[in-house]
Amino acid sequence: MGNIRDEWFPIASSADLQPGTCSALTLLENRLLLGVGKDGQPSLFPDTCPHRGAQLSLGSFDGAKFQCPYHGWEFGLDGRCLHQPAHPGRDPSAASTLPSYLLREGYGLLWACLGDNPKCLPTYPEYEDGTGRSLVLKAAPFASSGPRIIENFLDLAHFPFVHEGYLGDPRIAGIDRYVVEVVDGMLRLSEVSVWQPNPGPLATSGGPVSYEYTVSHPYAATLAKTPSEVDGGERSGFSILLVASPVNETECLVWRVVTVRDPGVDTDAQRAFNRTIFEQDINVVESQLPKRLPLDLRAEVHQPADAGSLAYRKWLIDRGTSYGTVPKTE
Ligand code: FES
Ligand SMILES: [Fe+2]
Repeated sequence: MGNIRDEWFPIASSADLQPGTCSALTLLENRLLLGVGKDGQPSLFPDTCPHRGAQLSLGSFDGAKFQCPYHGWEFGLDGRCLHQPAHPGRDPSAASTLPSYLLREGYGLLWACLGDNPKCLPTYPEYEDGTGRSLVLKAAPFASSGPRIIENFLDLAHFPFVHEGYLGDPRIAGIDRYVVEVVDGMLRLSEVSVWQPNPGPLATSGGPVSYEYTVSHPYAATLAKTPSEVDGGERSGFSILLVASPVNETECLVWRVVTVRDPGVDTDAQRAFNRTIFEQDINVVESQLPKRLPLDLRAEVHQPADAGSLAYRKWLIDRGTSYGTVPKTE
């Protein structure tokens, strides 16, 4: 599994954390229990009782304590075992404590790290720079590996086919050379130009659009659309942070934060548009075999437009990320 446990992954939207509730989830094949105290403070534990392994989320939660459904052991939100009903007069030992995992908030999301040496959240400066309005989209299940999903997000040559009429036109499918570089450990694709039928909110005809992509986390990428006069001026700029939270190596929940520059943006329309584009990708990406991304560059055939995908595969090798990939052998 390499160092994937040291990466942060979103497990909930901050806005959805309801005080006094708990929910079960799976991250990196781990059955987990997220509890939110009455004060709104979240805690994350294995969803497995240390006594006989029963699933704690089948029991009850009163906003301060979980009770296991099997023998009724009670746990506080610090994980400590508070009560063992078969022995009411005895203090539970430290060995009955539930271990807890690291949590932090960022970009409107709650992130978890299951490892002991947490790395950084992906960089997404547009969320905080005050030039836009951010929307957290509902997480969507995706039956493929995180690296296949991220590579699809970085892929340009599919726009005219998978997103015909939205992000491209098969008659204008040429992809110009773009810049691929690693800057401060981040992969960056810049000077990317693609022809789009509707380049921005004020555009009256099709034209070129410029994008910049960054990858600073193996299961996340950002896209920034550069505002320009041809596609509606300043208001047309937007950015997207996309993160795949792995349920396992070939199934993810995909989180997206969209930051739009236009202060008067129709947020419902923006959510609907992003959902449409995302749904267009699902069938094709879920059909890709193998579902795990081959890191041996000889395993698939490439075209010049794939320079970003090839750089992403090399970046994963340098990062030491093998989870969700077919690692290079030799
Ligand atoms: S398995 Fe949880 S109290 Fe026994
Ligand atoms: Fe796509």
